[in-house]
Amino acid sequence: MRTQRIGRRDLLAGLGVGLGVAGLAGGLMAQPEPIGLRAIAATRGIAYGAALGLRSVTEEPALAEAYARECAVLVPEGDAKWTGLHPASGVFRFDGLDRLLEIAVRHGQCVRGHTLLWHEALPEWVRDALPNGRIFELLTDHIFTVLGRYRGRIPVWDVVNEAVEPEDGREDGLRQTPWLSALGPRCLDLAFKAARAADPAALLMLNEHDLEYASPLQDRRRRAVLRLLETLLARGVPVDGLGMQSHLRIGRPFDARILHRFVGEVTDLGLTVMITELDVGDAAVTGDIATRDRAVADHARAYLDTVLDHACVKAVTSWGLSDRQSWLHHHPAGWRADGQPMRPLPLDTDLRPKPLWQALADAFRAAPARTPPAWIPG
Ligand code: XIL
Repeated sequence: MRTQRIGRRDLLAGLGVGLGVAGLAGGLMAQPEPIGLRAIAATRGIAYGAALGLRSVTEEPALAEAYARECAVLVPEGDAKWTGLHPASGVFRFDGLDRLLEIAVRHGQCVRGHTLLWHEALPEWVRDALPNGRIFELLTDHIFTVLGRYRGRIPVWDVVNEAVEPEDGREDGLRQTPWLSALGPRCLDLAFKAARAADPAALLMLNEHDLEYASPLQDRRRRAVLRLLETLLARGVPVDGLGMQSHLRIGRPFDARILHRFVGEVTDLGLTVMITELDVGDAAVTGDIATRDRAVADHARAYLDTVLDHACVKAVTSWGLSDRQSWLHHHPAGWRADGQPMRPLPLDTDLRPKPLWQALADAFRAAPARTPPAWIPG
């Protein structure tokens, strides 16, 4: 009788665990799964990627390797914001974004630009200039300069970030920002139109937060976002899609039907949808690491299964790749009562895949196949 050699992968399969589990058991199998999420997502026509600060990948080769393996899309976490690109009046600094593009080209990835019109990450000089006229020129000059430089090389832009805030009390649900005070709601039209003129082929997104849960406030946000998209389209404003940030928080009321219906309503407008800043906060979960990681994975899986059921959802990017990097470590939303750091991202601090990684892989494999986005390198 022939003796059969049982490989590690077969052993894992025999235990009922799928590809990608390597590393979950910590020391025992601390090998990162060689197949990255980008390849798994691509089998269903989905582009997966993550945000990054340039410094993290240039200074940490292992993290750079993880980004190359896992991501088809890179999103500059700060390098394409006003503070990153336009630190002083008339002074543009492109080195960060240039470097990121070089890295992306080297690894067959693409970059999503983030972001051109936002009320945060505004240098002091812009805040000072806003109430004093020539704002139209300031905004259009910024967009023309940036998109002109990267025309044909950055195929997707989060043109407008976080335009909606029903709690600001405006009838139209728009956020009361310095841009809005200076220019009125047409600041949104202006940003999209300038972006279209500067790079006619780029996909232009509105990127919004807190659209995921069934609370009355998030319901108002969803209504306001739909209304905004409808009015922009009716005015002929070139908006191509909605980014749903998806900073998920365990404990918030999740209702798959409400979420599914909302994504359907956006696609009915003829728009594309992307999950743009996925991470999972687990402040509400007590227990050991394994319990927390399981809860994070299950929460994300339920969310992803719901949104990915729509073939118009073409991309998923998380806000960071490894728990080393998360912005939540510096944000009040990232605070846990036990003082432990958040574990909101697919890889742990040693860059090993976590249950969240597996949840993403499983959700991609379970998703209906779709036509891959045209903007992703073939
Ligand atoms: C965050 C970055 O991750 C932080 O490093 C920075 O200090 C503040 O901005 N929504 C967005 C992102 O659209 O741009 C934010 O990024 C996180 C919330």
